[in-house]
Amino acid sequence: DASDIEKGTYPHFMLKEIDEQPFVMRKIIQEYQDENDDIKLEEDVRQAMAACDRVYIIAAGTSYHAGLIGKEFLEKIAQVPTEVHIASEFSYNMPLLSEKPLFVFISQSGETADLRSVLVETKQLGHPALTMTNVPGSTLSRESDYTLHLHAGPEIAVASTKAYTAQMAVLAILAVDTARAKGLTLEFDPLKELGIVGNAMEALCDQKEEFDQIARDYLSTTRNCFFIGRGLDYFVGLEGALKLKEISYIQAEGFAGGELKHGTIALIEDGTPVIALATQEHVDGSIRSNVQEVVARGANACVISPEHLTREGDAFSIPTVHPLLAPLVSVLPMQLISYYAALHRDCDVDKPRNLAKSVTVE
Ligand code: G6P
Repeated sequence: DASDIEKGTYPHFMLKEIDEQPFVMRKIIQEYQDENDDIKLEEDVRQAMAACDRVYIIAAGTSYHAGLIGKEFLEKIAQVPTEVHIASEFSYNMPLLSEKPLFVFISQSGETADLRSVLVETKQLGHPALTMTNVPGSTLSRESDYTLHLHAGPEIAVASTKAYTAQMAVLAILAVDTARAKGLTLEFDPLKELGIVGNAMEALCDQKEEFDQIARDYLSTTRNCFFIGRGLDYFVGLEGALKLKEISYIQAEGFAGGELKHGTIALIEDGTPVIALATQEHVDGSIRSNVQEVVARGANACVISPEHLTREGDAFSIPTVHPLLAPLVSVLPMQLISYYAALHRDCDVDKPRNLAKSVTVE
């Protein structure tokens, strides 16, 4: 059938889509670059960003995790105060809004009903909306004032991979463009850095057997798994846990390294797998102590670190990229480890039980 043709030689859409990430990075660079190698963005998006006093990111699932990283980009690069909200909670826990809010809806499909109801509500209040989506003709895109296209190509597997890295890439571009429009000086060329990210992704896609082996070593019989990280790595850990639970049905949770001692460490037993992300130099000492704490209680720690921070005993060393963009690279091991863990357990990788690709009911 048609889906077999699209999958080509790949056994699953998820694996194909993981592999496509380097190309998606190149496509995004092309689409968001002008003749002078500067950022190309529609003028009205630029103006909307300049006009707002606060960004409210609204999203669900994996897109919410991209939003958490996007907040860091917008605040650290562009100095735009930003909040991130889970769409389904927004109406009940609506924050006090600033005077000139801009709502940014992040959605692979552009069809998620929980987001749409926030869009309807905030439009009624008269606030502008920007949708970042992989499907420009989608409902959210049509009903918003502005759209930023992710250019990731169709994503078929229920577990989102390339849309997530595309969302983070476009958020980085948006943040840098906003910073420049505000006259902030940056030692950061996002298009060049995203090129380096693309190469790093490619290197990881060429080492799949290693992740297959890590899944065998750490996850073959376990019923649970924890992900820890600090700073940006914490958010990538949340996404790593979501990927793993979605497709392998292993109970997985992501935690901030510093929160371990406030409860989670009670769950560590002999052999409990703990996947630790250690890509951020400014928290390296603290995340390494967290690893020691769990290892002392019997955990089977799997540390993923960039080349310049790798220590003896780490499970895998990823290429070094700009620290703010590390999530775009460090999530690939999470995706691949989850993929192989699901495969080893004979799970239906592309169509996990109880889940839908796009949730169009509230
Ligand atoms: C569903 C999918 C998730 C996705 C979420 C948000 O739950 O299974 O993979 O992250 O919806 O989807 P969206 O299309 O709005 O990004």
